[in-house]
Amino acid sequence: MAKSFSSKIGVLLAAAGSAVGLGSIWKFPYVVGENGGGAFIILYIVCSLIFGLPLVMNEFLIGKQSGRSAYGAFRELSGTNRWQWFAWMTMLSVLILMSFYFIVTGWCFYYMIEATLNTFAGMDASALKAHFDAFEGNAPLMIIYAVIAIVLTASVLWFDVNKGIERLSKILMPLLFIMLFLMALHMIFIDGGSEGLRYLFMPDFSKITSAVVLEAMGLSFFTLSIGVGVLVTYGGYMPKDQNVTTTSFQMIVLVLLVSLLAGMIVFPAVFAYGFSPTEGPELTFVTLPDVFQHMFCPTLTSVSFFALMCVAAITSTISMMEVLVAFFCDATAETKRPLSRHQSVVFVALIQVVANTLVVLSMTGMVGWLTIMGNNLFDFANFITTDVLIPIGALGVALFTGWFVPKARYQGSRLASFIYLVILRWLVPIAIVIIFLDSLNIIK
Ligand code: PFF
Repeated sequence: MAKSFSSKIGVLLAAAGSAVGLGSIWKFPYVVGENGGGAFIILYIVCSLIFGLPLVMNEFLIGKQSGRSAYGAFRELSGTNRWQWFAWMTMLSVLILMSFYFIVTGWCFYYMIEATLNTFAGMDASALKAHFDAFEGNAPLMIIYAVIAIVLTASVLWFDVNKGIERLSKILMPLLFIMLFLMALHMIFIDGGSEGLRYLFMPDFSKITSAVVLEAMGLSFFTLSIGVGVLVTYGGYMPKDQNVTTTSFQMIVLVLLVSLLAGMIVFPAVFAYGFSPTEGPELTFVTLPDVFQHMFCPTLTSVSFFALMCVAAITSTISMMEVLVAFFCDATAETKRPLSRHQSVVFVALIQVVANTLVVLSMTGMVGWLTIMGNNLFDFANFITTDVLIPIGALGVALFTGWFVPKARYQGSRLASFIYLVILRWLVPIAIVIIFLDSLNIIK
């Protein structure tokens, strides 16, 4: 795959393709809804700019300076094996992340097919919710769609058609952006929509607790693909003269814009069409079909939108699977049984078929004992990655570069390098530790 990043724009597109995905369109709206709206959004933006920017740059630089995947990068730069546990931990995070991300990607495929069949025509809020619930209760159907997403992702890596995907996403991602923009514009003018915008943009700081701050930070890192080794691996593919600061900044602005546009579509619809902001993970999927019914050419618009959402999701799943495939190839390279790239693709895909099946069985309650701490596996995997593993991954890369291995540090003007170092050394570690302790009620 390294070969396929022929250009600087190629790495930017791949990194943006990884970052812009279900996190912005599916997760952002419902997490904002569960955490009270405007004040949460401010936290999310602040986390993305103050912590997100240096962390994205840091991960790119770790990859770029070492020229390795996440497996080799920490060893190469530190010159020891002491950080290998951390590299393995990031891989565990990606494995768990994929165990529910493919399921939601499957939802997008299902909704695209349903939109093609015009199933949503005439459905109101309660009918749309009942429709989603029926789908969510249908384990075989959900497994089939998740497996379709896994096979599609694995095929891209198997046939090494990343270049094609890169070219395709050069056209499709801007199209998704334009569609989101036009839809958001349309929603500004609908009757009753202004209440949604007020909910989004009028902060109510009384809603902020330490758990809310942790959610905002976790969501910001999730949407930026931080803390799981993906950006390290993509940094390894960067041409030497690529400007890391510009690439990181462009990627972050894109993610923020897509997330905010998704919110500006979903929340006016929530208030105008009778949904609840605290609907939970189905929020985007129940509100969007209602939005399309009030738009020009509903069938065509909804099919195109869900198709573009599938593309956004698949470019993210490709990045996750690519990182694991590269990791297992590197990790087995020095053993007696090195895995070829193709074997590694099959290995990762099979693990994901099993993991996603178990998660669906737990979600639908078909296998009652498949729960962890009273949560089904979907909720648990979603929580443990966003609120625990990803922040720990971010803390790890900050400590790695800030304190132990300065080789991958950003070198800019004196002031910029100083601010960067202070953020990595002090601000990120202290903030993450305080937020953790506080949300666990250890300090009060
Ligand atoms: N940033 C992706 C999204 O918002 O959908 C999710 C993601 C992709 C997280 C890749 C982590 C990752 F490595």
